[in-house]
Amino acid sequence: SPVIDKSLKKEHFDIIAHKGASGIAPENTMAAFRAAIEMGVDMIELDVRNTKDEEIVVFHDEFLDRTTNGTGAVHDYTLEEIRQLDAGSWFDPKFRDERVPTLKEVLDLINGRCKVLIEIKHMDHPHYHDFAEKLVDVIREEKNGYEWIILQSEEVEYIEAAHEYDDHVQTKKLMIGEDSAPLIAFYVETKMHLGRAKEDDRMKALNPEYHTLSTRRVFRMHARGFQVYTYSPNNREDMVKMLHMGVDGIITDYPQILIQIRKDI
Ligand code: G3P
Ligand code: CA
Repeated sequence: SPVIDKSLKKEHFDIIAHKGASGIAPENTMAAFRAAIEMGVDMIELDVRNTKDEEIVVFHDEFLDRTTNGTGAVHDYTLEEIRQLDAGSWFDPKFRDERVPTLKEVLDLINGRCKVLIEIKHMDHPHYHDFAEKLVDVIREEKNGYEWIILQSEEVEYIEAAHEYDDHVQTKKLMIGEDSAPLIAFYVETKMHLGRAKEDDRMKALNPEYHTLSTRRVFRMHARGFQVYTYSPNNREDMVKMLHMGVDGIITDYPQILIQIRKDI
């Protein structure tokens, strides 16, 4: 197993459960979120989608097919219809009672025991036009919601819309694909643009895919005032490598491995 540099400190990184503890329970289900809380993660990452009757559910794909026994797009079904589906058997038959949870249900379960990173996926569908604003409303309903619930998206428009609607909300920019110098420059400009109305930085972090990172790239992002949360290294070797590069957080399907690394430091 890889040697851990003595300079790493426990408090230097956040442990983030990707779609809950999705390595040991079906992703984005109450079982996966309960398991992550029990492990003592710092944060839970999840994805949200809108149903036909505009209820927000916690679900990754546009289509129901991969992770339920249903078929077709989430936005073509009502919440009641989606609640009939089995969201656990695809992973292991012992999880057959798992349902697609609503965002409200998940936030009520977590209730500030750890942070939550909500990813807004882009959808070219009318339901998604005011989606960021709807999510801010949900954050407002939770006790101290601004403190422990953070929005992230690949789409700057959603981040911008959320801030225009309510400037108290915390956000992160999700970076998909290659991180090149011009791309970083673009994000720094975007951050400056987003921050124009107020002195503080609205977009505090960039969350790149881990294969795109190097020590130099992490250094550059830090030098420009961004935190770096990377997704999704799933083994100890890759996690230790990311920590040595100086990332601020790791989003992983196996948070238990990171908890062990933190103990070993
Ligand atoms: O948090 C970043 C990560 O979740 C993005 O990828 O496909 O797992 O939502 P995906
Ligand atoms: Ca995600």
